[in-house]
Amino acid sequence: MGAEDRVIWRDGEFIAWADATVHVLAQSLQRGSLAFDYMAVHRPSRGPAVFRVDDHIRRLFNTCGIMGLPIAYEVDELIEATLETVRRNEGARSVRISALFPSVEVELVPQDPHIAVFIAAYDSRKDIIEGKPGKPHFAAELSLKVERVKRSRRHDLIPPQAKVAASYTPSLPAKWQARREGFDDIILLDEHDQLTEAPTSNLFLVTADGTLATPTGEQALRGITRDSVIQIARELGFAVEERSIGVDELDTAREVFMTGTSVGVWPVIRIDGEPVGNGAVGPETARLKARFDAVVAGDVPEFAHWLHPVSQSLERPENPDG
Ligand SMILES: Cc1ncc(COP(=O)(O)O)c(C=O)c1O
Repeated sequence: MGAEDRVIWRDGEFIAWADATVHVLAQSLQRGSLAFDYMAVHRPSRGPAVFRVDDHIRRLFNTCGIMGLPIAYEVDELIEATLETVRRNEGARSVRISALFPSVEVELVPQDPHIAVFIAAYDSRKDIIEGKPGKPHFAAELSLKVERVKRSRRHDLIPPQAKVAASYTPSLPAKWQARREGFDDIILLDEHDQLTEAPTSNLFLVTADGTLATPTGEQALRGITRDSVIQIARELGFAVEERSIGVDELDTAREVFMTGTSVGVWPVIRIDGEPVGNGAVGPETARLKARFDAVVAGDVPEFAHWLHPVSQSLERPENPDG
């Protein structure tokens, strides 16, 4: 199945991939108000499963709540729709759900406040990346730059919990510049020189005393992978701290890694041109990555409930009226 054969859920109906468009003057395109979430489809032996689908859909509703977007669905309806979209799109590896104002508007506040929801399930590599000219950027181990010119994570502007298009606007030029300078990605600071996250992933440090530390849920998006890694790490016996971390703590960190839906646990080996630790993937990062990979492969019974099989609908309570 290629992209041209895929179907996309739009407000309760399936439409062809090529028809899932909006007008160039749509409010969300012009004003950056599109809310979205992105989840992984894993393929454990018992069949395709969406990772923590309920948490992702709840996060979409949280984004809509923060941004005041009047989404007219229930959480369960969109979980069901997500599972059905994966069922109808063979070989899908990920799901992107978008909630937006498709209406052409004059004012910032839309006259027509209908929020359209689109759900697309696809294979990023086959359906999107391979069809483009040039090579995609890829690094198995990361070299990062710290963005020191602009403090772009201001939670009084757009709260980090809002996964909305406009919140990626400041990180695009920062990350693009870092790429031109030969780095893979960029660490964003807040206005107090505290670490926050990268544009699309969370940040973890293994500190000198072996503690796992990550910026707080007020400073960075509460990534689903971040939360999974915190729970997995606690189960493995790590002490985990969610706290404010000054940029200078990067100098003494033994290990650094990032987390995100599309990358899992992603080791960082250089920051601002200097090696992290001894410049190789650290043992704790390797241990957490191996455990996370086993969880998403369905090999860890304690966390098997995070994999929602697409063959299974939501369990609904019995109708009390019989
Ligand atoms: C700003 C930001 N931080 C962190 C993440 C990682 O979150 P998750 O693990 O839920 O993919 C993302 C994901 O796209 C993101 O956009």
